Order: sequence, then structure tokens, then C-alpha cells
Amino acid sequence: MDQVTESKVIGVSTPRIDGPLKVSGSAMYASDHHFPGLLYAWPVCATISNGKIAHLDTAGAEKMPGVVAVYHRENIGKLYRVPPSSGFTLIIDEKRPPLEDDTIRYYGQYVAVVVAQTVEQARAAAESVRVTYNKEKPDTGEKLLGTPLTTDKPDEKSKRGDTAAALTAARVKVDAVYKIPVETHNPIELHASVAVFDGKKYTLYETSQAVVNHRDVMAQMLGVPTEQVQVITRFLGSGFGGKLWPWPHGLLAAACARNLGRPVKLVVSRQMMFQSVGHRPAIDQRIQLAAEPDGKLTAVQQDYVNHTSMLDDYDEGCGEITPFLYSTPNLLVTGGLARRNVGNPTAMRGPGAVPGLFALESAMDELAIALKMDPVQLRLKNEPALDESLNIPFSSRHMKECLTVGAEKFGWAKRTPEIGSMKRDGLTLGWGMAACSWLAARIETEATVELLQDGSARVACGTQDIGGGTYTVMAQVVSHETGIPVNRIDVVLGDSSLPPGPISGGSWVTASMTPAVLGAAQNAGKALLLAAIKSDGSPFKGKKQEDLELVNGTVRLKGQGQDAVPMAEILRIAKVNSVSGTNKSDGTFGASKPKVSFHSYGAQFAEVTWQPEIARLRVSRVVTVIDAGRILNPRPARNQIEGAVVMGVGMAMFEETMYDARSGAPINNNLADYVVAVNADTPDIDVTFLDYPDYQLNALGARGVGEIGLAGIAAAITSAVYHATGIRVRDLPVRIEDLLVPASKSAHLA
Ligand code: MOS
Repeated sequence: MDQVTESKVIGVSTPRIDGPLKVSGSAMYASDHHFPGLLYAWPVCATISNGKIAHLDTAGAEKMPGVVAVYHRENIGKLYRVPPSSGFTLIIDEKRPPLEDDTIRYYGQYVAVVVAQTVEQARAAAESVRVTYNKEKPDTGEKLLGTPLTTDKPDEKSKRGDTAAALTAARVKVDAVYKIPVETHNPIELHASVAVFDGKKYTLYETSQAVVNHRDVMAQMLGVPTEQVQVITRFLGSGFGGKLWPWPHGLLAAACARNLGRPVKLVVSRQMMFQSVGHRPAIDQRIQLAAEPDGKLTAVQQDYVNHTSMLDDYDEGCGEITPFLYSTPNLLVTGGLARRNVGNPTAMRGPGAVPGLFALESAMDELAIALKMDPVQLRLKNEPALDESLNIPFSSRHMKECLTVGAEKFGWAKRTPEIGSMKRDGLTLGWGMAACSWLAARIETEATVELLQDGSARVACGTQDIGGGTYTVMAQVVSHETGIPVNRIDVVLGDSSLPPGPISGGSWVTASMTPAVLGAAQNAGKALLLAAIKSDGSPFKGKKQEDLELVNGTVRLKGQGQDAVPMAEILRIAKVNSVSGTNKSDGTFGASKPKVSFHSYGAQFAEVTWQPEIARLRVSRVVTVIDAGRILNPRPARNQIEGAVVMGVGMAMFEETMYDARSGAPINNNLADYVVAVNADTPDIDVTFLDYPDYQLNALGARGVGEIGLAGIAAAITSAVYHATGIRVRDLPVRIEDLLVPASKSAHLA
């Protein structure tokens, strides 16, 4: 497809077309759906994290007011596992269907589900179900992984040269362990399912970042053909990866609807969100860096271990970015899993890269200090000419410019490197920075564009808008191709019965849907031209299709603007309501022999203020420069990066899920005790996009934004904290007590 260099709508800041629906409260989220005869389900959650159910007594609960049914292993009916798969089909976090056996593997595992007339009745009855257990000692522990790292058998993820020899011969070296606690996804919208069963077909209103996969999984698990399941997610109150794949509650709701022949709603409580719908796992990473005195890296080794659940193998993939970020002849990345009595971890915004870059970029800062070198210069010095892990070129990489533009905007030249040496208004300043990257990709997408007689257009794609602006960007792409204004374009998403679209994960939707939608719009245009040359009464009747063109919503002879006829007029003459075009674009993801390395890049600069007298630490300023291809709509793109930066403040300073060592329960399971960054914690954020189109990825050159904004932030902040205080926090989050006991956290440096 031709490169698009000029456009009246692409790259233009465009307000969200779904904004009015959202601010007026009329956008329908999953749990907003109501149906006559709707019943409410509330799960019964295990109160141990390791053991077996000895006895389940539902008799009392069944007699309570409003209770319609209590389901458990013996009466829920048949539920199946999904077969193993590859690619983006049939993906599920927990392979075990709910209630499959009596073994408890994590706190909060569903052991039964109550259905009642009201949600209060269902909850009260669920709390009255008596469960006795044969308990065993859980392993969720204080020290989840321990130090040194413990795992059965680490896998080699990437390797080149002789890293062991280079580390032994190192003239300057860093060797340190970095830890990330369990972080819990806390989108404002709770996970929810409203299941409707008509005796044959399931219509499932879900909180899903991937309706097509969700449908396929549910069909398998319910044991029905895919055409008997439809999954709908028109709007999502975000997900951050937690809503990418189906969780057991959705299957419980569908099974209850099947068993009762009535619609059933199940909303996961905030407390349950900490138990049974995923989290970023606890991760330990050891980073070893070797360098010449001039800063040239000679070896990089990263060994990570993340926890996973007892039955499922979640690999955080912390070494995703390490192999290509810097030039080094010797490199080794290993990864391993440690099983714990926790619910299964899952992707959380920037999975792999975000924790991986916290470790790698912290170590790079430590190396810069060991070398007495400026940390920006150290990165510039080690900029690779190609992706050295695969020996292929980068599609479009402007890391150096991210670093230099960021340094310029931040005022980095004024930085004095001595600890605590910078002051402003009586506060000690700390300045830190980090580089970052995130995988770019296109995944298979199908889309349909219709041009209608009323002058409007409709675009349909089985993807979803999780809050990032997909509705609007898709309208812009159609508008660009057809000349129809954005406000006359109806975007239809979030329904598995539409042409299969991409998952809303990996920040890949924009890059994936762009070629499909452009192609579909072009095909719709061709269908319109066909109508123009074939229809009686058309001024173009009998002309050749290739002599016509569609410009600004009008049909004309190529280059002859004066005789242009509006699209709607052609359709009226042809007496048809609409013409349509469909297109399917292919994916780049998972290519066994990729020819180019597709990634986005960025540089993060952070300022903290520190008041040792009252132990007050604040993140005051962040400058972020992002190279994510062409930015199709700067408004939501900026919004994505700003949100990600705020999440990075949470990751660095606050977020940590704590488990009770006796029961294995996540104990800070609410938004009072699990601290997320709020407005008051939000620093001044300066977002810059370099805006270099990546035409190898698609005709518009878009790579997509979202996760890249979080990558590197935590390391930039902890490096700033070091600069202000002299204390290197390698164990997130930064706690005030870390800063009061200088020796405790800075002892690992070799
Ligand atoms: Mo994102 S963690 O790929 O939804």
C-alpha cells in the first residue's frame, strides 16, 4: 500500500467521537445491561490458599430470601478446558474451568456461586455457604522468591557471545538484584459479565479487551459451536491487560444462565479483583553489566524469575527489550518461574518491558555512576546500529533523538551529579532518567466499510475501544480515505459477530486496524465507482472505472474537480442504500524470521523533590519523549502517555499487593489500602512525540501508543531518588523507611 504523507485528518488533534456518550452517562458498559427477569450471581470464594474442600454445606444458603440456586462442582454442569493453541486464538489465563475439582490453589478461588433475585440477596447467601477445608501451608510468602533467585530451571531467552568470560574480564561492573512486588490492575470499571441464554445461543456482555478470543474461549468451555456465542464490549472502563483474556467469573455467569434459562449478571467486587482476575507477578531480576572505562558495554546479563500460579505458566518475559536496546557483543537473558499459591498472574500494562526496564535502566544508572559518566551519554555511547539479537535492521529507531530532545526539554545540562547537590525553594532536587522501548506489531485484522446514500459511512471491526481512542482514530482513517467528515462516520466495534479484529493489547490496535480499514475503505470506494459507471442516469455511465476517482466524498473523472458528483448522489441514482468493501490485513507478530525489528522508543526524565527534615518525597516533573511512529491523533495519544506516567509514579512510589502469610489472602484488597497514584501525586508532565512515520509497519506509519509511556518511568524516578538522597532503591515501591535507613537498600552493589 502506498505511503500516506499528506492528510487533512491524520495527525490532527480530534476530540473523541464517543466523548459525549461517556460524559452524559449513556455509554453502555458491561454491567449497565439489564434484561427482564435478570438474576444476580455472587461467587463463594475460598478462604484458604492451599488445601482441599472437605465439606460444602449450601442448605442454609438455599433457604435464604430470594435465592434461586446455589451451584458448585456437582451441579454446575459440564464445563470444558480449551485446547492448547498458538497465536492469538483460544487464549486463557486459568486453564482450569471454575469448580473443576475440590483442590484450592489460591485464596479467593471460586468454590460455588449463588444466584438470587437481587445482588444483596446473592451476596448474603454466598457469605452463608459453609465450607470446611483440609488446609495445607500456603506458599505466597513474605519473601516470594527469596534472594538469591530460586527457580526450577531457568530458560535461555537470548544469547550472544561469551557473557561469562566478558563479565569475569570486566573492567567496570555492576551486579545487582531488583525486585518488583505484586501489582494489581485497578481499572475503575470492575470486571463484569451479563449472560443471556435463549436455549441455544449465548449473548455475553463482557468486560473484554478481546471479544473475538473471548467468544472462542467461551464456546470451547461451554461446549458449543462458536456461532452460538456472541460477546459484546461496546465500552470498557479500561483494563490494563487484566481484561485481555477470559476469567472464571464469566464462565460461571454463562453456566448459571444456561442452567436457569434466565439472564444472569455477575460483577466482580473490588476485593475479588485482587484475587481472581490477574496481577503483575512478583519479579526478581539480577542484572550484570560489564563496560570499558569509556562506557562501552562489553556484556549484559539479565536473569529473572517471576512467580506464577500452581497450575498455569505465566512468563512475564522481562527480557523482551534487553537484547536490542544497547550494543554489546556479549549478552545472556534467562527467565524462570516460581510457583506460588496465588491466582494466575497476567499481562499488566507493558508486561515484561516495564519490569525489565526498571531493572536494566536502574543498572545502567548505577553503571554511569561507577564510570563517573553522564547517564544520557552512557546511553548515547551504546546506541546500536541494528538489532544485534536478530541481526536485522530497525524499522525506524530514533532513540538518540529521544535522549537529546528529552535532555534539552528537561534542562539536563544544568544537572550537577553530586548527591543532594541541587536545591530549589529549600527542597533537595533529584534528577534521573531512563531509556525505554516497547514492541510494535500488526496483528491480523478484518474490517468492513460501508458508504451510505445519506452521505455517511459506517466502519465495523471486531476490535474494541478500551479507552485509548480507537473509535475516533478509526473514524479518522475512514475520513482520510473517503473524504467523509469524522462526524458522519459511524464506528461499530466491540462485538464478536463483526469481522474479526485485533485484541486491544500490546498497544497494537492502531497499527493493526489501519491497513485493514484503509483497504476496506478503498474497496468500498471501488464499489461506488462501479455503481457510477453501471447505473442508468449516472453522468459516468459507460466510463472506465480506472478513469474515475473518489475525492472528498465525491466521484469525478481523474483530476477534473468541476464535474464531481457527491457519493450520496451516485447511490441515489443507482437506487441502492449502500456499497461496501471488506479487507483483511495480515500480521507481523510472531513471524519466525522477521526482516526488520519493529519497536517504539522513548526517553523518560524525572525530577523528585526531597525534604529530609520531614521525610517528604514527591515526583515533581516528568519529561517524556516518545518515538512511536506517526501519531494519528495527538490528543488521545498524549492522554495515553500522561496516564502511563501517572501509573509509573504509582509503580515507583506506592503500588504493592501484600499477602497474609497464614491464609494467603491479599490483605490490602481495596483502594484505601492499595495505594494508586491520584491527581495529587501527578507531576507536571511534558509529552513530546517525535512523529517519524514507520512506513514498514503500515501505510500511515503508525505504531501505536500506550504501554511505552509507562516503560522506564520507575527507573527514572528511583535514579532521581538516588541523586537526591544517595539511596538506591532496588526493591519497589520506594518506601519512606528506605530513605531513613541509608545502608539497607544499597548493599547489593558489587
Ligand atoms: Mo496490555 S498489558 O497488552 O492490555
